[in-house]
Amino acid sequence: MADTIHWNNIEEVRAEALVCCRCDLCYGRTHVVFGEGPSDARAMIVGEGPGREEDEAARPFVGKAGKYLDRLLEEAGLDRETLWVTNIVRCRPTRREDDKLRNRAPRTTEIRACDIWTSATYHFVNPDLVMCLGAAPAQALISKDFRIGEGRGRWHEGREGRLTTATYHPAYVLRLRGEDRRSIEEQMLADFAMMRSELEKLRMAA
Ligand code: URA
Repeated sequence: MADTIHWNNIEEVRAEALVCCRCDLCYGRTHVVFGEGPSDARAMIVGEGPGREEDEAARPFVGKAGKYLDRLLEEAGLDRETLWVTNIVRCRPTRREDDKLRNRAPRTTEIRACDIWTSATYHFVNPDLVMCLGAAPAQALISKDFRIGEGRGRWHEGREGRLTTATYHPAYVLRLRGEDRRSIEEQMLADFAMMRSELEKLRMAA
């Protein structure tokens, strides 16, 4: 990847990504949701793909799942403003159902097409830690058969050897009820707490 880096900084990458048409998702989008955060963030959160609200706002995790994510991050003592937040695909994947456009998981071909922006973000933001939300980013950035229930709760050597882990996708948790929801939410809080404590260790060592 280093050979193909022809930008000078993450804002130059963003400018090019905003007019990307490397896959068919570009035809249905309102905006490219490139990602946001401090360009020297030590940790990065990678979701699956923008939903309707994100597509409209051009910002990741601003809808219902995003608000839920914000609450969990805060509860775990993490400040979203210090993290780079993005998705494994940057345009909204949709499917038509009953004449309505619904969100869907990204396809492997779409993730591959968007990988240039993921790699360039790794290069310029250079995060020490990566937290994947949901199976799609975990399978792209940790291993192709990664399963959240089995692999969550510990650090893995992810893409480029970066410390990478994964937890449940907030939209999935919002669909659960009662005890199931409570149990998964507890695991997510533990996963974010693990991220916070690793960040503290890195800060102390710096
Ligand atoms: N779900 C995602 O995976 N990403 C977003 O940005 C919003 C919802």
